[in-house]
Amino acid sequence: MPNPTPICQNDHGWVIETRTTAYALGMNSAGMLAHRYWGARLPRLEDYPPAPTPIEWASFNGAASIIPLEYPGYAGTDYTEPCLKVAFADHVRDVVLRFDRADIEGDMLTLTLKDAHYPLTVQLHYQTHVEYDLIARWVTVINAGDAPIRLERVASAQWHVPFGGDYQLTHLSGKWYDEMHLRREPLLPGVKVIESRRITTSHQHSPFFAIDRGHADETTGEVWLGVLAWSGNWKLMAEVTEFASTRVSIGINDWDFEWTLKAGERFTTPYSLGAYSAAGYGNASRALHDFIRDTVLPHGRTPHKVLYNSWEATFFAVDEPSQIRLAELAAEMGVELFVMDDGWFRGRSLDNAGLGDWTPDPVKFPNGLNPLIARVNALGMDFGLWIEPEMVNPDSDLYRAHPDWAIHFPTRQHTQMRSQLILNLGREDVQDNLIAQIDWLLTHHNITFIKWDMNRNVSEPGWAELGEHQRELWVRYVQGVYRVWGTLRERHPQVIWQSCSGGGGRADLGILRFADQVWISDNTEPTARLGIQEGYSMVFPANTMEAWVTDSGAPYVPLSFRFHVSMCGSLGVGGHLLHWTPEQRAEAAEHVARYKAIREIVQFGDQYRLISAQANAFSAVQYMSKDKTEGVLFAFRTHLPTPAILPPITLQGLDPEAIYEIEGFEQPRSGAAWMHAGLRIELHDYQSALRSIRRVGTNS
Ligand code: GLA
Repeated sequence: MPNPTPICQNDHGWVIETRTTAYALGMNSAGMLAHRYWGARLPRLEDYPPAPTPIEWASFNGAASIIPLEYPGYAGTDYTEPCLKVAFADHVRDVVLRFDRADIEGDMLTLTLKDAHYPLTVQLHYQTHVEYDLIARWVTVINAGDAPIRLERVASAQWHVPFGGDYQLTHLSGKWYDEMHLRREPLLPGVKVIESRRITTSHQHSPFFAIDRGHADETTGEVWLGVLAWSGNWKLMAEVTEFASTRVSIGINDWDFEWTLKAGERFTTPYSLGAYSAAGYGNASRALHDFIRDTVLPHGRTPHKVLYNSWEATFFAVDEPSQIRLAELAAEMGVELFVMDDGWFRGRSLDNAGLGDWTPDPVKFPNGLNPLIARVNALGMDFGLWIEPEMVNPDSDLYRAHPDWAIHFPTRQHTQMRSQLILNLGREDVQDNLIAQIDWLLTHHNITFIKWDMNRNVSEPGWAELGEHQRELWVRYVQGVYRVWGTLRERHPQVIWQSCSGGGGRADLGILRFADQVWISDNTEPTARLGIQEGYSMVFPANTMEAWVTDSGAPYVPLSFRFHVSMCGSLGVGGHLLHWTPEQRAEAAEHVARYKAIREIVQFGDQYRLISAQANAFSAVQYMSKDKTEGVLFAFRTHLPTPAILPPITLQGLDPEAIYEIEGFEQPRSGAAWMHAGLRIELHDYQSALRSIRRVGTNS
C-alpha cells in the first residue's frame, strides 16, 4: 500500500488516514454531513464508500436513527442522542447545521458548519496522528452574533461503528479502593450511559470505551476504541438505534451543564481520541500508550525514579526525625526519591485540620522543611511532597479568612467529607492564591516531585457570583485546575507531578498534560492490584503508573511477589521500613537493583497482557523494548485450588525469525517458538516469576 495521506478530499467528502486505519465522512445526497467509514485503511481513495442516504422513510423514522450523522444538532425529527443542544435568545432550541467550508492544513481538517438561521458557527476539528493510528476530534462553537446563545450540550464527538448490531461494549468501572474493572456487555437497542457527576474523572467510571463484535480478544478481532481528555464531569452514551446503527457520543457531561456564549465568544470542547484496531485490544492499548508517552506527558521519555513514600509508615505523624530514619533505610535499599506524604503542613495532625495552609507545621518542623530535604539530598535522593491544593478544612487560616472560597450554596448545609470542603477553583482569586502558595514551596525548597491529591467529591455545587449561570461551575472548575497546574508546571518545569484522587479518581488524558504519573489506587494489596493495574493498562502506559510495595498483603504474599507486581509500573516502596528485617531490606535492595536494570523496558516498551489477571488466578504480562531485543516477563499465581495445571504462556511481540534466550530456560529458541509453543512456569499459590527475555541471534 502507498504511504497514508493524512487528509484527502474528493467528490464524496474527506478521508483521514493513519498508518493502518482510515476514517471517512462526507455529505450525502440529502445534504447531511454523515459518517462514511472507520476501519482498516483501504488502498485507493475511491474505495471508501460514499455517505449513506436514507432509503426507507416513514413518518416515524427520523433520519438520525438510520444515517450516521457526523455531528447531529438537536433538531427536526431526530430522536437519537444529538451532539449539540442550544437555546437561542428567542428561546428557539432547534439547531439546523449546514455545511459551510472545509479547511485542510497538514494533519488537520476543520469543517465549518453554520446554523441555517442564527449566527451560530460550529467547527469540527479532526487531527490525524498517523504514526499512532489515532484520530483526535474536538469541536469549537462560536457565537458570531450579538445575542447570547446558551449551550446545553456540546459533545466532543460521536463515533460511529460499521452498520449492524451485535456489538459488545467494554468499559472500566469500580469504586474507591477497587478501581478499573473491565466490564463487557452486549449493546442492545437503547442508550447505555456511563458518566461522572463528581466534578472529577471518578473512581467509578473512566472516559473510555471499546466496541467489538463479541469475539475480539487481546490479539485478534476488530476493536473500535475511544477516550476523552477531560478531568471533570464527562458522559459517554453508546446508542443502538432501531435500525441497528451503533454510535458512541463522548464529551463534557450535559447533566447540570450549561454555558452562555456571549457575542463573539467561543467554547472549545476537550478532545476525544479514536482508534481502530484490526488485531484486538492489545494493539489499540499500545497505540494509546505510545501516544500518551510521546505527545501528552510533560516528561514522557524521562525514566521515573524509584521512590519511597512514607504515608503507610507514618500516616499523619510525620516530623524530621521520623522521616530521616525512613529516608536512611530507603537510601540503603537504592531508593532515588523520598516523598513525604500528608501531615507536614500547619495544623495537620489528623485529617480534620490544615488543608489550605501550605506552610510547614512549626511544631513538627521547627526549622522548616529544608533541613529534612538537605538530609535526604545528602543521602543521594531527591525530595518530593504531598499536597491537596483543591481542598480546605474549615479549621484552617485560609477558610477563616475566606469562607466564601469553598463551593457552597449559602442557604444549604456545607457537607463535609473527610472534614473538608472543596475550594472553588473556578475563581481566579482562589487560583492565584494556590499558585502563590505552591510556587513559594517550589521556589524555596529543593522539591522535584509533587503528589497532587484530591480526596472528596463535590456537593452543593453553588457559586453565588455566577448568578443565573450556576451550571458553568463544573467546567470553570476544571479550567481552573488546569490553569493552576499549568502555571506551576511552566514555572517549575523540572518537577514531576503525580495525579492522585484518593487513588485512581483522576486518571485521564486531560490531567496527563500536567501530571506524569497517576496513583491508581489506595489499595496496595498486591493480588487486588494486579487486576487494577490490568484495567488501567487498557488506556495508560506503565510509566504513568506508580506502584508501591507496602505491607499490605504480608505475610501471605511474599515480598518478591509484592515487588514483582509493583515492578510492572513505576516502582515505589511504601512499607514501614522500620518494621522490615535487615534480610527483608536486603532482599528489597536486590529487587530495586533488578528494577533499575529493566525499568526502561517496562516504562517505555510495548506491553502485552498475556493472561488476564482480572479473569484468572494465574496471569502473565510482558514488556518488550521497541527494537524487540530485550524484554521481561512477569507471571503471577494467586490462589488456585489444587491440583492445578498452569497453562503455557505464549509470548508476544518477538521477532519470529530471531533467536531469544529466556531466563530459566537453557535452550534458546526462535521468537516463533516462544510465541506459538510458549513456555511453562510452575508456581505455587502466591508465587511469582520475573524472567528476562534477550535476543541472542538470528535464524539465518
Ligand atoms: C489519599 C491518598 C493516599 C494518601 C492520603 C493522605 O487517600 O490516596 O495515598 O496520600 O490521601 O491523606
